[in-house]
Amino acid sequence: MFTALSLPPGALYRVYHRRDSGRPVVDWKALRDSQTGSMQKPIQTPAQAATPYIDALLGYRTQGIVPFHTPGHKLGKGAPEIMREVFGSALLAVDVAMAGGVEDTRESTALVRAAEDLAAAAWGGERCFFLVNGSTSGIHSLLLGLAGPGDSVIVPRNAHKSLQAALIFSGAVPHYVEPAIDPLWGIPLNVPVESVAAAVAEHPDAKAVFVVSPNSNGVCAALDAIAAVTHDARLPLVVDQAWGPHLRFCSGLPLDAMSAGADAMVASTHKLISGITQSSVLVARGERLNLKRLESVVKMTQSTSPQVLIYASIDAARAQMATQGEELWNQALDNAAWARERLAPLPGVRVLSDEVLSRPGVADLDRTRLTLSACDLGLTGYELETTLRDDYGIAVEAADPLNVLLNVTYGDSRDDVAGFVAAMTDLAARRRDAGAVASATPLSSWPRFTRQVMTPRDAFFARSEALPVAQTPGRVSAEMVAPYPPGIPVVAPGEEISAEIAAYLGEAAARKLHVHGPEDLSLKTLRVVS
Ligand SMILES: Cc1ncc(COP(=O)(O)O)c(C=O)c1O
Repeated sequence: MFTALSLPPGALYRVYHRRDSGRPVVDWKALRDSQTGSMQKPIQTPAQAATPYIDALLGYRTQGIVPFHTPGHKLGKGAPEIMREVFGSALLAVDVAMAGGVEDTRESTALVRAAEDLAAAAWGGERCFFLVNGSTSGIHSLLLGLAGPGDSVIVPRNAHKSLQAALIFSGAVPHYVEPAIDPLWGIPLNVPVESVAAAVAEHPDAKAVFVVSPNSNGVCAALDAIAAVTHDARLPLVVDQAWGPHLRFCSGLPLDAMSAGADAMVASTHKLISGITQSSVLVARGERLNLKRLESVVKMTQSTSPQVLIYASIDAARAQMATQGEELWNQALDNAAWARERLAPLPGVRVLSDEVLSRPGVADLDRTRLTLSACDLGLTGYELETTLRDDYGIAVEAADPLNVLLNVTYGDSRDDVAGFVAAMTDLAARRRDAGAVASATPLSSWPRFTRQVMTPRDAFFARSEALPVAQTPGRVSAEMVAPYPPGIPVVAPGEEISAEIAAYLGEAAARKLHVHGPEDLSLKTLRVVS
C-alpha cells in the first residue's frame, strides 16, 4: 500500500523571525529539514498500478453486448458522421451509462469505490470522490457539507468564483482573509499564516477555513503552518488544490495539501495531469469532518449519469501519477527550468520566478507554471497571447492584462519547450527592431474588500436594480464580478461597493477585461440591492 501520511497536529507550525524585515515568515528549508521523515511525499508502489475502472470499460467493449440503454447513439452506431469522425468509434463504443455494464447496477458503487479507494490512498486521504463537474462541484460539496445558513466560514479573498456560488447555495457568511497583490505582476499572491491565525481568533465560531493553494499562477501558501493554526482552533482546513493534482507525486514540487495535514482538498485532474476535461477528485479525511454527510452532499452536486470516460481517465491518471509521477514531473521541471534560463535574459521579457518567495503569504512556487510578461516590449498579456497564437501557433493557458500563463507538463517534449523559447526570442527581437516601448500598465491595484452587509445568498435573492457603475458606491452588490482569468471576484453579492471598486470596474470595462458573473458583461451597469 501507499505510505499514507498522518502528521501530528501542530507539529509543523514553526514561524521563524527574519531579522531584516521583522515580519514573521515561515522558514521552509528549516521546517522541512526538521521534519525529515514526516513530511515526505508517498513512496510509489506497484499496488497503485491497478486500474479497475478503466479495465472494466475495456472489458465492456469486448463483450459484444447489445445496448438497450442510454445514450441514444448506441455505442456510436446511430451517431452522426461528424461525431464519428471527431470522436472515433473506439471512444463512442465505451460511451455507456454505468447501468450498461461497467457498473453492475445504477445503485451499486462497488467498482467506482474500488477506483476511488486507490485514489484516496494515492492522494493521502481516507475517502476520495470522483467528480464529473470539475473542482467547481467539489467546492460546492465541501461548503454545503460544512456550513449552513448563517454559519461563519473563513475564506480567502483569492478564492475561485465557485466558492462564491457555494456561499449563495449554502447561505453561509464569509469572513475574508486577503492575500497581497503583487504590484509588478498584478496578480493576487497567497494568504499569510498570520492573517489566517488572526481570522481564526476573531471568528472562533467558524465552521471551517478554506485556502487556495497553489493559486492559478502556481504560488503556494504555507499550508502546514496554516493547518496547524486551523487545527489548534479545532477547525477543519479545506484546500482548493485545483492547480495541484500533481504535487503529491514528485518530491521536487511544492508540498501538497494532504501531506500538509489538510482535512479535505479538491484537485482538478484535468488541469495538469491526464484526466479528461471536467475530471476532478475530492479527497478527505474524517477526523474533523463527517465523511458520510460529505458523501451525501457530493451525490447532490453530481450528475446521476456521470460520464464513464471521465471516471476512467481519473483512474488511469492516478495510476500514471502514482507509479511514474516522480520521473514524469522531474522531466517537466527540467524542461521548465531550461526554458526559464533562456527566457530570463531576453530583454523586455520577464518570468515569475523565485524572487516571489520573499513576498507575503508565499511559501513556495510550482516552477512548472510559467507566468510571463512582455509589457516592457509594449504588449499586454492579451496581445502576447494572440501574437503567440497567430504568428507562432502557440496556445497559452491564460492571459490577463499584463501576463500570459503557460503550463509545462510531462506531456511537453524539450522540442516543444524549445519552440516556445525560439518564438519568444524572435518576438522580442521583432519588437525591439520595431522600436517598441513599454506600454502596458497594470490596472489600478486590486480594490480592497469593504464589508459584508448581507450574506451572499440574501443579496443574490434580494430585489435588485441595475445602475450605471459610477452610481454604485455606497450600495450593496447583488452580483459577483470576477475577471477571468483568474476568476477571483472584485466584488461579490452582499458586499458594499466602494468608490475604489467602482473605479476599478470602470477601468476594467474600458480595457474590455473578460469577466464572469454579472448580467451586464460590458460592465456598464451593475446590479445592486434595491
Ligand atoms: C483556483 C481554482 N479553483 C477551482 C477552479 C475550478 O476548477 P474546475 O475547472 O475543475 O471546475 C479553478 C478553475 O480554474 C481554479 O482556478
